[in-house]
Amino acid sequence: MSAHSEKKNGAEEAGDDHSFKSSGFATRALHVGQEASQWTSRAVVPPIVMSTTFAQFAPAVTAGFEYGRSGNPTRDSLEKALAALEKADYALTFASGLAAQTNITQLLKAGDHVLAGDELYGGTNRYFRTVAAKFGLTISYVDFCDLAAVKAAIQPTTRLVWFETPTNPLLKVTDIAAVCQLVRAATGADIITVVDNTFLSPYFQNPLTLGADIVMNSITKYINGHSDVIMGAIATNRADLYEQLKYLQNAVGAVPSPFDCFLVNRGIKTLALRMEAHQANALAVARFLETHPQVRKVIYLGLDSHPQRAITRRQSSGTGGMVGIYIKGTLETAKAFLSALKLFTLAESLGAVESLIEIPSIMTHASLPAETRAALGIDDTFIRLSVGVEAVEDLIADLDQALKKSSSVQ
Ligand SMILES: Cc1ncc(COP(=O)(O)O)c(C=O)c1O
Repeated sequence: MSAHSEKKNGAEEAGDDHSFKSSGFATRALHVGQEASQWTSRAVVPPIVMSTTFAQFAPAVTAGFEYGRSGNPTRDSLEKALAALEKADYALTFASGLAAQTNITQLLKAGDHVLAGDELYGGTNRYFRTVAAKFGLTISYVDFCDLAAVKAAIQPTTRLVWFETPTNPLLKVTDIAAVCQLVRAATGADIITVVDNTFLSPYFQNPLTLGADIVMNSITKYINGHSDVIMGAIATNRADLYEQLKYLQNAVGAVPSPFDCFLVNRGIKTLALRMEAHQANALAVARFLETHPQVRKVIYLGLDSHPQRAITRRQSSGTGGMVGIYIKGTLETAKAFLSALKLFTLAESLGAVESLIEIPSIMTHASLPAETRAALGIDDTFIRLSVGVEAVEDLIADLDQALKKSSSVQ
């Protein structure tokens, strides 16, 4: 049995999992899973254990680890830390956010129905639409801002409800508690509600405390935060789901490497600091863009103009670092704008310390059917900004010069 499945974090000196649950976020991020007492060397930083197999005392008598796919000490430290960040009893890591999604979907069987948000990261939508659908699952998509539509879309065979909030890329916000309550009341069947928490990270939002069964994060984004690891994680308080997903983590085999676990473990120690900096910069950038003559509309969770501002205030402790804008002009204007930027890097992904910018319609969301993009409003003049932690006046100056330069391109 691994140390994790015993639900101990080895924190004789610092207290157990439960004492940490009432600690502040930054305390949990720095201490849970990091206890020196768990290593014979008393290393302060969890070591990178590269060994793929672990010597047994006698046949089937282990020190908690057998084979690197089923369990690894570096991964174990990280999973404990991630559980604490989401105020969860359990967490599991996977080789990517999409691998986490795949494992959750493997809880279902042919004939089951998935009710998913109509606006999701393009790869999440693509997995449900083109991969999961091949294995006999039926999937329907609904606007999770419309509670009546969510209720109406639940079917007798619905087993999984999956939504992002805020959504990627349009930053629409769903009332997590209301959806979880509605799903539970709608049927006696066991429907698993999953919230993709990638855009706000556990620093600003904890969906499990609002009634979700599973919270999923693309660790690749804010949690790691340095554009150097692809990883996904789930967290839950339900022992039954944890046991099934732990089984799948090993049986499916999409596990992260020990080195990546080390990097993420290091990244989360500054998550609180980074999220505060992302948020302050994003708010300043959003306010600047709101006044810019080249910008038609700005979407940011922290602006009073955001349609679900009241829900955000209620369920999240912050508004994050993601900003969306519609610019005046055409796709050519948008391309010219992005090409003229010097500090913002023209790249997919988000949530890293450096500022990134992209055009979802031809980049991250190009895999969505064109009619879906049109219905959602992801047009060629919509631009997604992941505001980094550079000096904000430099970011604003960069956006200003590039918008001016591109204004003549139609
Ligand atoms: C909201 C969201 N969920 C899931 C994913 C997939 O994560 P990964 O790229 O780590 O597989 C992404 C990736 O961009 C994302 O933005």
